[in-house]
Amino acid sequence: MGKIKIGIIGGTGLDEPNILKNPVAKEVHTRYGAPSDRLIAGQIHGVDVVLLARHGRNHTIHPSQVNYRANLWALKEEGCTHVVVTNAVGSLQEHIAPGDIVIMDQFVDRTTKREQTFYDGTVKSPPGICHIPMAYPFDQETRQILIGVADELKVKYHPTGTITVIEGPRYSTKAESLLFRSWNCDIIGMTSVPEVVLANELGLAYAAIGLVTDTDCWKDGEHVTADLVVQRFKEFATLVVEILSRSIEKMKDYDWGPMIARREKMLVDAIMVPKE
Ligand code: ADE
Repeated sequence: MGKIKIGIIGGTGLDEPNILKNPVAKEVHTRYGAPSDRLIAGQIHGVDVVLLARHGRNHTIHPSQVNYRANLWALKEEGCTHVVVTNAVGSLQEHIAPGDIVIMDQFVDRTTKREQTFYDGTVKSPPGICHIPMAYPFDQETRQILIGVADELKVKYHPTGTITVIEGPRYSTKAESLLFRSWNCDIIGMTSVPEVVLANELGLAYAAIGLVTDTDCWKDGEHVTADLVVQRFKEFATLVVEILSRSIEKMKDYDWGPMIARREKMLVDAIMVPKE
């Protein structure tokens, strides 16, 4: 297959263009509107990479207001084959502590207000209806690469994790937090859905690194606050850049042909086009 191109959606640490060689900022507009910010294209280890700040570079867009469709569409139009993201997340389980990282493999969707499909029947929509399979939302092969790197770096990581995605922007009540724990969810966040869903609709391999900033509010003692999340998220900046850099180096030499072919077939099987 041809070259890969990796979209990276994140926050702190990643909005520093100096992690890229030859950075070029690009304002784009999509048929779904404007993405959260300009795209920054460049290279890491010779691999083409496009950075996008999910909440805007000054963190002005809250989780319900992010234009997830425009963000993913823009990355696809740039030619991305993969999307690797970081998320600040809270822990819902005793064995997951602030400072850990989680390579997510499942989600439970508790969002209520977000567009989850490109195929919405409007003029801008591609034709048909898309019933995308979601049994394994996060790309297994990209996940394995991230896990290998976390292992190499000897950081405390969890190779799997189910994220509850809440609508926000408020945090959960204690009753909700206890409920999500009882559902065996491991972590909690506000943006993985619909981001991962839309990536799948575009045939993009999507993987997510959860950066654990807090223990939500199920535990006695420290409860989550926005200030705490921002402060702890910043502490991950150097580690995140290291994980991404090493992962991209490994992704460069991997044979992605079968994965891309599988995703193309999955899309053909998922889209029901109107009968003439
Ligand atoms: N992001 C980071 N911590 C969170 C929490 N406890 N709930 C929702 N989103 C979060």
